[in-house]
Amino acid sequence: MDKPKVAMVIGASGVTGNPLAEQLALAGWKVYGVSRHPPQLRGGPHAQFHHLPADLTDGRAARAVLAGCTDVTHAFHCANDARPDTRLAMIGNALDVIEAVAPGFANINLLQGTKYYGSYLGPFKTPAKETDPRVPGGDFYYAEEDLVTGRQQGKRWTWTAVRPTAVCGYAAGNPVNLATVLAIYGSLLRELGQPFGFPGTAACFNALIQVIDAELLARSAIWVSTTAGCGNKAFNVSNGDMFRWKYMWPALAGFFGLEAAGPQPYSLKQFLSDRQPLWQAMTRKYSLKPFPFERTPDWVQGSFSPPNSRLACEYDFISDTLRVRQSGFSEVIDSEQMFRGMFERFRSEKLIP
Ligand SMILES: NC(=O)c1ccc[n+]([C@@H]2O[C@H](COP(=O)([O-])OP(=O)(O)OC[C@H]3O[C@@H](n4cnc5c(N)ncnc54)[C@H](OP(=O)(O)O)[C@@H]3O)[C@@H](O)[C@H]2O)c1
Repeated sequence: MDKPKVAMVIGASGVTGNPLAEQLALAGWKVYGVSRHPPQLRGGPHAQFHHLPADLTDGRAARAVLAGCTDVTHAFHCANDARPDTRLAMIGNALDVIEAVAPGFANINLLQGTKYYGSYLGPFKTPAKETDPRVPGGDFYYAEEDLVTGRQQGKRWTWTAVRPTAVCGYAAGNPVNLATVLAIYGSLLRELGQPFGFPGTAACFNALIQVIDAELLARSAIWVSTTAGCGNKAFNVSNGDMFRWKYMWPALAGFFGLEAAGPQPYSLKQFLSDRQPLWQAMTRKYSLKPFPFERTPDWVQGSFSPPNSRLACEYDFISDTLRVRQSGFSEVIDSEQMFRGMFERFRSEKLIP
């Protein structure tokens, strides 16, 4: 009989951690979810899921909360913070506790991203491969990886990392991501009776990009963490296809019953900032669930250098996913179907009208 698998999801309330906790629980794992705020699992509380409220920047306090996790076999590090030192401290503190209390600890998976390849600084080598040399800019991921690989030397446990492209999904506590922002943008335009204009330049409209469904990302992380031969390696992951907004845009416009229009001169950040009162009015009019709309303008600009945003870059944003396929992970999702499926879900859950 297989040994029981027990996960610790660190950052369980986030856009990547929340669906990971759900997917693990659905697959029959016992799951400890660590975050300061409780995640809201899809379908409600799950008997397999135990939330441990801890601030991982405080090593001593975290140890007090996590000391009982003696049966953890697999850790999934999905915590996030804009400050590199804080990110590093959280990984170190989590590893300190796990190594001290969990004798059956087998693997820690790091949630990295295409920023590892300097993707947010400007055009980068594409498709990016896991074996590409490090570049200035991915430094915060390198420091974390170096911390973990250094501590792994001579140990029985292994590390893995997944490097997703833009993540699309929904986590009640951290709902701002590409899919929710596009759904809100389309809903605002429908309310205004305007065509579905592309809020970016012609270069953005034409560039090749990849995205990933947060649940597929979760399953890929579980796969690499538990599959023989994957230990001590990193894996690029994506939906499996790539697209240009130019061709995706009419399909998304169709969901909102709008005519697609090409590149628009306005910035999405400004458009969203100006429409906050309208969204509040729509929330009342259609009895929508509260959404932290005020976070969307800054999110779209994010840390990507202007004029690019997290919605679209003026350069190709592609990584090579051969390695994860060769490891046996074959799941793919058509990105157009993913967007439409998510928008349907957001509509049925009253996030958008
Ligand atoms: N989102 C994307 O599109 C994307 C794309 C590629 C790569 N990534 C990478 O994926 C990783 C996870 O990012 P994410 O987008 O899932 O982040 P996120 O949605 O912002 O979630 C961050 C998680 O970290 C937890 N956290 C933050 N500070 C904490 C603290 N002091 N103590 C305990 N928990 C803390 C948060 O929980 P509380 O606030 O409740 O404590 C939350 O659960 C990052 O390395 C990121 O670079 C993300």
